[in-house]
Amino acid sequence: MSIGVAILGATGYTGAELIRLLDAHPHFEIQHLAAHSQAGKKVVEVLPSIASQSTTMMLTKADAGLPDSVELVFTALPHAAAAQSVKKALDAGKKVVDLSADFRHPNLTNYQDAYGLEHPFPELLASSVYGLTEHARAEVAKTSLVANPGCYPTSVLLPLVPLLKQHLVDLSSIIIDAKSGTSGAGRATKTDLLYCEINESMAAYGLPKHRHTWEMEEWASQYTGQDVKVRFVPHIIPMTRGMLSTIHLRGQGCERWHSILSNAYRDEPFVHVLPEGKMPTTGAVKGSNRCEIGVSVLSETQAVVVSCIDNLLKGASGQAVQNANVMFGLDEQTGLPINSCWP
Ligand SMILES: NC(=O)c1ccc[n+]([C@@H]2O[C@H](COP(=O)([O-])OP(=O)(O)OC[C@H]3O[C@@H](n4cnc5c(N)ncnc54)[C@H](OP(=O)(O)O)[C@@H]3O)[C@@H](O)[C@H]2O)c1
Repeated sequence: MSIGVAILGATGYTGAELIRLLDAHPHFEIQHLAAHSQAGKKVVEVLPSIASQSTTMMLTKADAGLPDSVELVFTALPHAAAAQSVKKALDAGKKVVDLSADFRHPNLTNYQDAYGLEHPFPELLASSVYGLTEHARAEVAKTSLVANPGCYPTSVLLPLVPLLKQHLVDLSSIIIDAKSGTSGAGRATKTDLLYCEINESMAAYGLPKHRHTWEMEEWASQYTGQDVKVRFVPHIIPMTRGMLSTIHLRGQGCERWHSILSNAYRDEPFVHVLPEGKMPTTGAVKGSNRCEIGVSVLSETQAVVVSCIDNLLKGASGQAVQNANVMFGLDEQTGLPINSCWP
């Protein structure tokens, strides 16, 4: 089976990662690549990482028409621009996996507050599925539009949701201290990400309320039927890729939390709960679609849960391909690296 695919935003970090994954995928065939300022160039001129057949492809404009043969579109574009391309692709009868935040918030007020924008197509939100794959498989399989989760929310919701579902977590004291490599901010030039500014340096950012806080709170609440609020502080660190979230929790029966998480993900190929007390590292998941989770029980009422993902894989393009596999009835692991690139 060969399924024609387009990537809009092919020249960004998540777009390049999609090309790498899809070039090795046995069922998805890249037929159309689009960009914005780099449109009109060949892939070989723009992406040093790609050496496959795709290097000869010409980059079109993201708002150009899509070939009839394309069935699936990945939109790896900045928010707001993505919404326009998603609408066009759906109108043309394509399935879409959108990596931006534009369709992640069924609650419109949250989108507006987080991004400071009116949503151009609120009518599409009812049919979009939030693609945290392990918690939304059945819905992903039926939809034409997957809103791929953000990287920080993926790293936080995977460990948090099974614990919240057991009603064991004190909802008034969830504190998340997270770190991301600089690829999380995309490829566009930003002064505070220049080598001289970020090397040997770290910074908290996004305070008092980073955009992903709304996403975490909205989906933690949706999945568990509770009104979940979190204190979330992200940090940018001098690393290319990788994300580590340390979640400080209070609650009841903490000595059971490790087994709750282990049982929740026992059969999941891409979520691994480490032996109790062992902590994950970003190095161990680099280049892989895995999320690794560590649990340290401090007392009956306090625990620390740490999760690691590669922001460009499980936090973006890897999870996007995982969702696309589910949408097309393929084995969910097809074309996705389970092993990391280590050291
Ligand atoms: N980076 C991550 O770890 C990560 C994780 C999860 C989700 N995401 C989300 O995924 C999306 C892509 O992120 P990224 O990190 O890959 O970004 P990026 O590296 O900055 O790439 C952005 C892409 O969009 C194109 N583009 C820029 N402005 C545009 C516009 N106004 N209209 C149409 N196309 C435009 C760029 O084309 P040119 O190069 O030709 O200008 C480029 O291909 C974003 O919504 C981001 O929030 C990123």
